[in-house]
Amino acid sequence: MEQQRANSLLFTPIKMGDLILPNRIVMAALTRMRADKKTGIPNELHAQYYSARADSGFILTECSAIRPDGNSFVGSAGIYTEEQALGWKKVVDAVHEKGGRIFLQIWHAGRAAHPEQIGGLQPISSSAIAINGSATFVKGKANHQVPKAATIEDIQQLLRDFRKGAENAKKAGFDGIQLHGAHGYLIDQFLRNKANQRTDEYGGSIENRCRFPLQVMDQLIEVFGSGRVGIKVSPIYDFNDNADSDPFSLYSYFIEQLNKRQVAFLEINEAISLDPAQEKVKHQEIFGSRKEKSLREIFKPQFSGLFITNYKLTFEKSNEILQKGHADLCSFGTSYVFNDQLVEKYKTGSTLNGAKYIEDKSKLFREYFYGSTAVGYTDLTVYQPKL
Ligand SMILES: Cc1cc2nc3c(=O)[nH]c(=O)nc-3n(C[C@H](O)[C@H](O)[C@H](O)COP(=O)(O)O)c2cc1C
Repeated sequence: MEQQRANSLLFTPIKMGDLILPNRIVMAALTRMRADKKTGIPNELHAQYYSARADSGFILTECSAIRPDGNSFVGSAGIYTEEQALGWKKVVDAVHEKGGRIFLQIWHAGRAAHPEQIGGLQPISSSAIAINGSATFVKGKANHQVPKAATIEDIQQLLRDFRKGAENAKKAGFDGIQLHGAHGYLIDQFLRNKANQRTDEYGGSIENRCRFPLQVMDQLIEVFGSGRVGIKVSPIYDFNDNADSDPFSLYSYFIEQLNKRQVAFLEINEAISLDPAQEKVKHQEIFGSRKEKSLREIFKPQFSGLFITNYKLTFEKSNEILQKGHADLCSFGTSYVFNDQLVEKYKTGSTLNGAKYIEDKSKLFREYFYGSTAVGYTDLTVYQPKL
């Protein structure tokens, strides 16, 4: 049985650019808010946490802001100061010492940041439209604020800031970089047209809405080389109140442009709705005649780099997906919250911490997801199954 597991596709190596990934298991980006709340500098806990997950094909770090107004998670590590880069270097070194590979997820929250989280600044977005709802991690009932619609000068500055962040990541020794283009944050606020209502060259047509995200990708590619750059998207996820009127056409065009740039990997979070009851209905509404197909079946054939699928995956489900050729790699979020050495655990078939909660996404243990201590982060005893 153990031998059978060890032979499964998840454990076969795969080439990404000039890197050989030892397996198809990717640690998805996970914000855990253990960095210094004032400086956004990652610390020894981060080094322990990430290096305990070094057996994955590669690690994607928590989303790391390019500048103070881009951080909607106070306590997230940033990538805009020398000190943050130095902090990250220790994390990267610790992962490398264990033989792992680690990519930084680079990010700007856009309108998802509340002024309270960003020193009273007005958040910035593609258009001056507020997220309908209250902001996460702001005490009391704090509704999202109307953001400033970025001017052309603002966009130029954002491009410079993304580049600087990528240069810092390179200095820190990261093996590569992933642009956070998912979950209704800044990049997604340009891509999808519920948030983006601009009428200039950055809004309106699909080509225009893809312009800024692609310009950011170009900056990252100039710093890291296309073989070390990827992006995460969530084409139909309604998180942070975003949506698109024609996701099939939008992402088909976007993927074509990523192919032209020979981008190394594309990660798709296949989540649909924060409201589980809505999931099936929405997928059918959005994809019409393609409704029988999953997002990976729709978009993988279009992408020429490595395709990573994400969302509620288990060992069995991910192997099945790989066997069917619906993805090249699988990324795991919640499983990595609860577990270190996931590859080893999958190989031996040992019971995962929190196994029951990985698929049904119950709210149990959530208090440990974010926080400032080792409990639930490097100390995983709180998640261990009660036998
Ligand atoms: C605690 C927590 C923090 C997360 N932080 C990030 C993040 O920083 N960047 C990101 O792209 N996704 C983030 N996600 C989403 C995960 O990367 C992943 O897309 C999602 O959890 C679905 O995968 P899963 O079903 O394996 O958990 C987070 C998820 C959780 C549970």
